[in-house]
Amino acid sequence: MYRAIIMWFRGQDTAFQRGMCCLMRLYVSNVRSEDDIKNFIIDNTEVVSSQSLTPEISLRLFTPTCRFWTEKPELWPFPDPYWAIYWPGGQALARYLLNNPEVCGGRKVLDLGCGCGASAIAARLSGASHVVANDIDPIAAIATKMNCELNNVDHLPCVTDNMIGLKPEAWDLILLGDMFYDEGLADHLHKWLQTCISTHGTQVLIGDPGRAQFESHDIRKLLHQLAYFELPDTVKEENYGLTSSTVWCYKYKPNL
Ligand SMILES: C[S@@+](CC[C@H](N)C(=O)[O-])C[C@H]1O[C@@H](n2cnc3c(N)ncnc32)[C@H](O)[C@@H]1O
Repeated sequence: MYRAIIMWFRGQDTAFQRGMCCLMRLYVSNVRSEDDIKNFIIDNTEVVSSQSLTPEISLRLFTPTCRFWTEKPELWPFPDPYWAIYWPGGQALARYLLNNPEVCGGRKVLDLGCGCGASAIAARLSGASHVVANDIDPIAAIATKMNCELNNVDHLPCVTDNMIGLKPEAWDLILLGDMFYDEGLADHLHKWLQTCISTHGTQVLIGDPGRAQFESHDIRKLLHQLAYFELPDTVKEENYGLTSSTVWCYKYKPNL
């Protein structure tokens, strides 16, 4: 069922998705307390670790034992459960950071579109001095906080502003796990990343399992492969034939 929700949400345009997330922020802050939402997450997810590229990170995710794996979509009270999936792009990114702690060591890191927060957690576990997790979905921010607790990671702020298009902060490193699933979002990101790089010399790492929207986008020509991972069998099965996931960085500073 949750895949049906996601496919429907993906089919909407970016403006619609952002609008829904704004409404969600209002709903979450005015109607349901953070404790209510935490309890909802506890009741509707399972703690898993072993079936991903990063077994050392535990996450609360949807699994076949969860009610909403098979439940009717209309009973789901929130619009977008992206945070309940550990996406292949995020898995590759987190694996790469854990394998190469010098990439994050002592640096100021932003995980944009954090979802379940795994890449942010990997950045902290690899020695980043300051990590901010960002997702426009307020439920993702709460899920990320809970996943930080599961992994004994503290002092990791989770913010829900839409940063894309805003004046960028001086991040040393921006992480993007599976963020190129929508053409409009990819275009906005591409422009904003160029500003981050040219203003602050920010390094950008992208994890992607070869999605069509990424492979066919102009950004792809500017990138070079850092690491390639074969996905675990369960991840392949859950991702309709995707078999691998790659970490990319910019070849050179793009022109504005
Ligand atoms: C496919 S999920 C990837 C999650 C995570 N990075 C991973 O790899 O597991 C994409 C996430 O991006 C978030 N998102 C979409 N547009 C965003 C934006 N403008 N700013 C921040 N997050 C955004 C969604 O809410 C969703 O959680």
